[in-house]
Amino acid sequence: MVNKITVVGAGNVGATTAQRIAEKQLARHVVMVDVAEGIPQGKALDQYESAPIEGFDTSVIGTNDYAETSGSDVVVITAGIARKPGMSRDDLLATNAGIVRQVSEAIKSSSPEAIVIVVSNPLDVMCYVAKRVTGFPRERVLGMAGVLDAARFRSFLAEALDVSVRDIQAMVLGGHGDTMVPLITYTTVSGVPVTQLLDRARLDAIVTRTRNGGAEIVKYLKTGSAYYAPASAAVQMVEAIVRDEKRVLPCAAWLEGEYGMSGLFLGVPCKLGRRGLERIIEVELTPAERADLARSADAVREPMAAVKV
Ligand SMILES: NC(=O)c1ccc[n+]([C@@H]2O[C@H](COP(=O)([O-])OP(=O)(O)OC[C@H]3O[C@@H](n4cnc5c(N)ncnc54)[C@H](O)[C@@H]3O)[C@@H](O)[C@H]2O)c1
Repeated sequence: MVNKITVVGAGNVGATTAQRIAEKQLARHVVMVDVAEGIPQGKALDQYESAPIEGFDTSVIGTNDYAETSGSDVVVITAGIARKPGMSRDDLLATNAGIVRQVSEAIKSSSPEAIVIVVSNPLDVMCYVAKRVTGFPRERVLGMAGVLDAARFRSFLAEALDVSVRDIQAMVLGGHGDTMVPLITYTTVSGVPVTQLLDRARLDAIVTRTRNGGAEIVKYLKTGSAYYAPASAAVQMVEAIVRDEKRVLPCAAWLEGEYGMSGLFLGVPCKLGRRGLERIIEVELTPAERADLARSADAVREPMAAVKV
């Protein structure tokens, strides 16, 4: 257990993330900070009042002031606007870049040693903004997308095969969403390649559904986007870090030559431990997967060039 974890943004993803961190007792204190007055305070108090029932000793604090976040071990950034129907993640670019810039400046001065996990969209570009503004090394700035994309993929596969989700292992690479690259060759059911259990057409349909997984939920909700699974995914990364688990999870990381690319955030298999990003694992790719990954990188570089930091 670490001393303090801050969640920036007390909206749907942020509040659910804070709740799960508290319920798992990953820190002594969870602080939710948001610009909306009263919202983080009210949600934090409500969550803390569940402590006697859920049986956790983590305190949950809501604030509009970064002073209360000072010295955080981990900071999860969920501040920003979410997608509405018909909006792509890139439509959020200018607004959320401004928000993430301001949040990153505050984190840099209040928690200079923190490990930062970015959730705000468009994910890979917001990671870049956070890294540039904080000046933190790549070990301490990571983005959450791959864990969620892989979880969606795994849940759809489990449903199609009528097997436990726990037995499905999958890895996804690339940018978040439409251009993600699921690694079919490394997808197994308790070690059995999924290609032996599902035909190509059904696999392709599941990949397409996974790529559009976020939009599928936006279409239902109309006024917001997914948050239960995104919060679970962010908390899995937090847990791997604070418990020094050395888990290998797909995360957005700053590439310095891995997969033949440099100078951008992209989803790759990362070993997470108490120091944050401890290693990027390079796996062999088929020529088609390599081409998809290059396309995915192009889709990240374009908005990256447009953003002012
Ligand atoms: N990476 C992923 O896989 C993934 C998944 C789901 C959502 N998201 C993204 O996460 C973000 C949050 O989604 P949500 O559903 O929680 O949205 P939400 O609208 O429910 O909450 C966003 C919160 O951010 C706050 N906020 C705005 N500006 C702020 C600032 N400068 N400082 C602090 N707080 C600020 C708002 O007041 C609001 O409470 C969105 O950008 C969304 O697209 C990413």
